[in-house]
Amino acid sequence: MNIEIVIADITRLGVDAIVNAANPALLGGGGVDGAIHRAAGPGLLEACRALPQVSPGVRCPVGEARITGGFALPARYVIHTVGPIWHGGDRDEPALLASCYRESLQLAAAHGLHTIAFPAISCGVYGYPPERAAPVALAALRECLLQHAEMQVQLCCFDARMASVWREALNPA
Ligand code: APR
Repeated sequence: MNIEIVIADITRLGVDAIVNAANPALLGGGGVDGAIHRAAGPGLLEACRALPQVSPGVRCPVGEARITGGFALPARYVIHTVGPIWHGGDRDEPALLASCYRESLQLAAAHGLHTIAFPAISCGVYGYPPERAAPVALAALRECLLQHAEMQVQLCCFDARMASVWREALNPA
């Protein structure tokens, strides 16, 4: 199985790429985004600023992904993706969340990377219930891994409660 659940601060992981749960401007924020920018140092913000805007203020639309270097992080690259804000589930949230995982993994594979760590995208400030997010994420990753068997995926949970939700989704009792 090339999907593993870990409890960690994602900024500490020495993988090829860590995924950032960002917002469309890609200029930093709170949560995991803030932690990644703090740990990477100012070079990351500069690299994000240099990414083209696809519309005013939008460097990465919801469901898409962009790649930068990792700067002072142990990870070589950061893949920035923008999860959907949870509105109750009828505004395409599952398809957009699945797209974040798929596009991030495909971007990593396109850069010849082999190890990637994801946070629980949208499960913080954006309010996506983890019990609903985990099965969507895992289905998208499993499907994508069929094409990219070389990739090793870590799902990085910040605490034990989140990890138990993801473990249950990975191996339902
Ligand atoms: N390592 C791993 N996971 C972390 C870390 C960390 N250092 N810090 C926070 N998390 C976890 C949170 O506990 C949550 O489970 O990441 C998950 C995602 O939470 P958020 O960071 O709030 O991301 P999201 O819900 O996608 O909201 C994105 O928040 O900060 C802003 O700029 C960001 O506007 C965007 C929004």
